[in-house]
Amino acid sequence: MLTLSAPAKLNLFLAVTGLRADGFHNLVSCVAPLSLHDTLSFKIVPEAGPDYLHIENSPGLLADASNTVLKAIQCFRKAHAFSGRVEAVLAKKIPFAAGLGGGSSDAVATLKGLNTLLGGPLSADHLMELAAQIGSDCPLFLYSNPSLIRGRGEVVTPVSAAAAEALQGQRLYLFKPDFSIETPWAYGQLKATQAYTPPLEAEAALATFLAALEAQSPLHFTNDFLKPLAFKYPLLSLFLDHLRQQGFACGLSGSGSACFVWLNENTPIEVLEGQIVGAFGPHCFRVETRIQCPGSVS
Ligand code: C5P
Repeated sequence: MLTLSAPAKLNLFLAVTGLRADGFHNLVSCVAPLSLHDTLSFKIVPEAGPDYLHIENSPGLLADASNTVLKAIQCFRKAHAFSGRVEAVLAKKIPFAAGLGGGSSDAVATLKGLNTLLGGPLSADHLMELAAQIGSDCPLFLYSNPSLIRGRGEVVTPVSAAAAEALQGQRLYLFKPDFSIETPWAYGQLKATQAYTPPLEAEAALATFLAALEAQSPLHFTNDFLKPLAFKYPLLSLFLDHLRQQGFACGLSGSGSACFVWLNENTPIEVLEGQIVGAFGPHCFRVETRIQCPGSVS
C-alpha cells in the first residue's frame, strides 16, 4: 500500500487573457501549494476486475468514471498497460468545485502513485503529458514549488527564489461559502462578458504583484473571475470588498467559490471568523492553512 498526500493550490494572482482556437482560455497566474491536502492510498491487487475507488469524508463526491482518480488510472493504463486491479482510497479534506484544485491534485497523485508502484515506467515528461490530458490545472501539481502558470495551464515555471522564500510557510485563512462553482460555467461567464485582461496588461500586473511579494510589501490579490461571478454570486465580491475595507488582504482562488485571507501575527482571527459566519452561516467551510511544498504533511 502506498500513501501520498495531494495538496490544494491557491491562485494568488489570476488573469484570463482570452479565448483560444481550441475553446480553452489562456491565463496568467501565480499559484502556491497549501498544507491543506487530500490523502490517497493505492495498491495493485492481482485479481482481474474493475479498478476501485473508495471516498472518505465527502458525501457529494461520486466514485464513478467522472472522478479524476479513476480518470487518471484509465489514462495511465492507456499509456502503460499493466495487469491487476487498482484499489484506491481517497480521504478528502479539500472542498470540491472550490477553485482549490483538489480533483486535479488527486489525479496527479494517482499518476505519481501508479508510476511508483509499477517501478517508474513513465518519464517526468510523459507524466506531464498525461496530466495535461486529464485537466488544465493538473500540470502544476507535478511541481512542488509556488509557480507561474501560462497557456491553458500547461506552461509552468517556478517563481523566483525571493518570491518562493516570501511565500513559504505563509499562514492563510480559507473559507468556502456553501455554494460551489463549476469551472466550465465560470469560464462561460467570462466569455459572455468578454471580461478578459489583455495579455500585456496581465503580464505587467503579474510583474507588479511579484515585485511587491519579493519586497514583502502589502499585497493586492486580483482575480479576473470575480467580476463575471458577481452577476450570480454578488455576495462574494461584496464580502471581499468589506474585508478589504477593514484592512484584511484577501482574494478568490481559481474560479471560486473558495476565498482566502492573508494572515499575519496581528490578524484578529476571531473577528474575521465572526464576519465569515455572519455572512455565510455556521456551516461555511473554514480552515487555517499555510503555503507549503507538497510531501510534508500538515
Ligand atoms: O481542463 P479542465 O477539464 O479543467 O477544464 C474544464 C473546462 O473549463 C473546459 O472545458 C473549459 O470550458 C474551461 N477552461 C478553459 N480554459 C482553461 C481551463 C479550463 O476555458 N484554461
